[in-house]
Amino acid sequence: MAEVLPIRILGDAILRKKLKEVDLSDPALPAFIEDLIETMYERDGVGLAANQVGEDKRMFVIDPWWARDDEVQKNPIVMINPEILQKEGEQVYEEGCISLPDIYANVHRAQSIRYRYSTPDGKSVEAEAEGYEAIVIQHEYDHLNGVVFTDHLGTLAKLRVMRKLKDLEATAVDGVNIRTGYE
Ligand code: NI
Repeated sequence: MAEVLPIRILGDAILRKKLKEVDLSDPALPAFIEDLIETMYERDGVGLAANQVGEDKRMFVIDPWWARDDEVQKNPIVMINPEILQKEGEQVYEEGCISLPDIYANVHRAQSIRYRYSTPDGKSVEAEAEGYEAIVIQHEYDHLNGVVFTDHLGTLAKLRVMRKLKDLEATAVDGVNIRTGYE
């Protein structure tokens, strides 16, 4: 049975770390993948990166079109050691993040991307995404480099969320979130 893992909240050092390449032969990997997927759904996420549950691994799972109340079938895509190869255009979308509870802000990102990743069984996949799916991938990819969405905000927008950010960082000194606001 997959386990729901505790979420790391902004203020935890692992959210600011450039994560390590994943060793696909790691025997613990399959179980971790199951836990990562389970945790994303349990927290109503459309994406979740490994460091958000405390693992120093360049990997994330996404399911952009999933929502608890919709009839849409779950379709988790696990991307290991991903790279964004090309970015084009621009779009703006109001983003949030499980590691930054109650903070939402408009973020500018590329409209379309070309990217590459390894599947859990070691296959290399190259693909393109645009619109909302491209946003989700860029957001999760940022986590692997220690970047969170509020880092992209301009000065005024950052000022608007600054107090909430500071409060979060102050309350997350022990690293692990005390499950507030999401259950
Ligand atoms: Ni996030």
